[in-house]
Amino acid sequence: MPPYAYFQKQFMPLSEAKIGILTHALHYGTGCFEGIRGNWDKEKERFCIFRLRDHHERMFGGCRILKINLAYSVDELCSVTTKLLEESGYHEDVYIRPLAYKSSEAVGVRLHDLEDDFLIIVTTLPPYLDIQKGVRCCTSSWRRVDDTMIPPRGKICGIYVNSALAKTEAWENGFDEAILLSHDGHVSEGSGENIFLVINGKLITPPSSDNILMGITRDTVIQLARNELGIDTIERQGDRSELYLAEECYFTGTAAHITPIVEVDHRPVGTGKVGHITSQLHKIFAEVILGRNSKYFDWYTLLSPKAVRA
Ligand SMILES: Cc1ncc(COP(=O)(O)O)c(C=O)c1O
Repeated sequence: MPPYAYFQKQFMPLSEAKIGILTHALHYGTGCFEGIRGNWDKEKERFCIFRLRDHHERMFGGCRILKINLAYSVDELCSVTTKLLEESGYHEDVYIRPLAYKSSEAVGVRLHDLEDDFLIIVTTLPPYLDIQKGVRCCTSSWRRVDDTMIPPRGKICGIYVNSALAKTEAWENGFDEAILLSHDGHVSEGSGENIFLVINGKLITPPSSDNILMGITRDTVIQLARNELGIDTIERQGDRSELYLAEECYFTGTAAHITPIVEVDHRPVGTGKVGHITSQLHKIFAEVILGRNSKYFDWYTLLSPKAVRA
């Protein structure tokens, strides 16, 4: 099933949705986006769009930072997203990518005096990181962008150059993923994931002041750990050496789910195998994101797809 799009207020195959080559966001990174999962429940034959509203609210934050005027309310964005998925014809896990951007075809770096537009794409996503075996990571030589440079609280397109530099450096050096430190040397996050450490049986994760994206999966996992396992999370600065000494370590993200980190800078994390808390959390998380736990009903947008796309 080819990807499907909502573009200029119409639903269409992705191949028909085109923008001009002078579009401002293409040249200057002046857009912000989201990554949302539509999880397909084979048994119930329905999608669970996970934390849809939270994603659109975060995108609204990015739009405020970039002075993008969205012609939609959060409610409208949620219903357009739902409709797109219904019409898409998919019957499998999907990835939903909304993008709000400076759409004027104009030369000149700025945020003002430009038109804005909004689109959504629904597609499939190949496995992002190895959730079963875990990943080998390095500390990146690139530092995470600071709030005084490009605010990391929004998923701002231009920021992802920072992530891409780190990811490719890691990959070219034989690692699966990079861990970026903040400008002052504290653990920040992965190229597209938040990070958690298990130390003395407690969960530790960097705070927003260390320039992380405030991840929706991060928040989900903090709540699941507390509610389901009785484990509290401490949001505090972490040092690089704590990555080497932690009992367990894992990434969280919409694309990454909960990915165990089994090695950092050629040192095994804990036993070098997927840790006990990480795998317990993963099991709980995998059920919750399918929309099967009524305790977390507020996080779910459940829908059955229409028959088949023409
Ligand atoms: C840089 C970065 N950090 C963290 C995350 C995880 O955020 P979320 O759990 O909301 O997907 C993402 C993914 O969106 C990301 O791009």
